[in-house]
Amino acid sequence: MQESDTKQVVKKIDVKVSRAYTVFVGENLKDFVGEQLKGKRIYVVTDSNVYKFYKGFLEDLSDEIYVFESGEESKNYVTLLKIYDFLIEKGADRYSYIVGVGGGVVGDIAGYAASSYMRGIGLYHVPTSLLAMVDSSIGGKTGINYHSLKNIVGSFYQPNDVFVDVNFLKTLPDREYISAFAEVVKYGIIMDVELFEFLEKNIDALRKRDLKALKIVVEKSVKNKVEVVEGDEKERGQRAILNFGHTFAHALESITNYERYLHGEAVSIGMVKAMKISKKMGLIREDDVKRVEALLKILGLPVDVNVEIDTSKFLEIMLRDKKNKDFSLRFVLTKGIGNSIIAGGVKENLILEVIGEDS
Ligand SMILES: NC(=O)c1ccc[n+]([C@@H]2O[C@H](COP(=O)([O-])OP(=O)(O)OC[C@H]3O[C@@H](n4cnc5c(N)ncnc54)[C@H](O)[C@@H]3O)[C@@H](O)[C@H]2O)c1
Ligand SMILES: [Zn+2]
Repeated sequence: MQESDTKQVVKKIDVKVSRAYTVFVGENLKDFVGEQLKGKRIYVVTDSNVYKFYKGFLEDLSDEIYVFESGEESKNYVTLLKIYDFLIEKGADRYSYIVGVGGGVVGDIAGYAASSYMRGIGLYHVPTSLLAMVDSSIGGKTGINYHSLKNIVGSFYQPNDVFVDVNFLKTLPDREYISAFAEVVKYGIIMDVELFEFLEKNIDALRKRDLKALKIVVEKSVKNKVEVVEGDEKERGQRAILNFGHTFAHALESITNYERYLHGEAVSIGMVKAMKISKKMGLIREDDVKRVEALLKILGLPVDVNVEIDTSKFLEIMLRDKKNKDFSLRFVLTKGIGNSIIAGGVKENLILEVIGEDS
């Protein structure tokens, strides 16, 4: 990773993976994006919400725009096939670029379309949700859901570049905005105590969506994710630390049919559980658990499971998820804010204990 300023306002974070690219972070980047893409054959993919708010910007990028209905339900092969139809009909060729402008749903499906159409064409991400800015647009994972299995079909496909303009966050619904902070807090816990402290000190500015504070949060988050991805592009090992709080979160999302919690909300609860396990294993002190809980709460995130759940069924889902993914019962834990470890040998009764605490 290398960073430098291009123009005064644009931060540049280079990502050194198999196909190197740059993440640009700034505010009011719309003209900048236009300049960067000038002369290229651009096919925009976006969703109905983003189109509604940013029609003018999208039309400046290209005459060819594919808009699908917003929401996770659209992240399927029907939408994917419609994108292929659009590309064929509009004459996209090997020298064309897809520009995905939207949240993680747009990024994942636009990315998969770009990786598969004509065996791979150009791809730019313009993330517009906080989650997409700090997480999904970085790292090259693409995909769609199938048979209600999340991201079951997909690829690793790095974009040509990523343009992050924090201005887009002004129109993001509150719940989406707050929820994404769980992933930001996650970077703080697993690897960046300074980011954690910055969040603690800048709650008011972040609540008001102050662009200066947001730029700092997004830039730090991107750098953290880039660092992890550079060390493990295809998720063979160390990238697993990004799953801190996620084993619980996935089980919680699944047992509540993906209806009750947004992903970030479930991650928030999951991280508190992971903190509690870390404490019970003697890795951290009670103060650390309290500090994380306090930050999540003040950000407006949930910290316990406020719904009746069957703990043994919950455990079963959790262990199944683990086994499917890495055939072991390793958990990402912390030995202090800013530090993570991947630990084996976490006892089932300990997990049951922390799940049971809320219900
Ligand atoms: N590829 C990865 O590495 C990765 C990582 C994490 C999550 N994901 C995926 O990301 C998806 C979730 O992403 P998300 O949370 O961005 O969801 P999303 O794309 O559904 O966006 C959330 C909502 O906000 C709207 N929206 C987006 N930007 C807006 C803006 N600027 N103004 C107003 N409304 C706006 C969207 O239309 C949508 O209704 C999931 O499908 C998940 O699997 C992928
Ligand atoms: Zn996540």
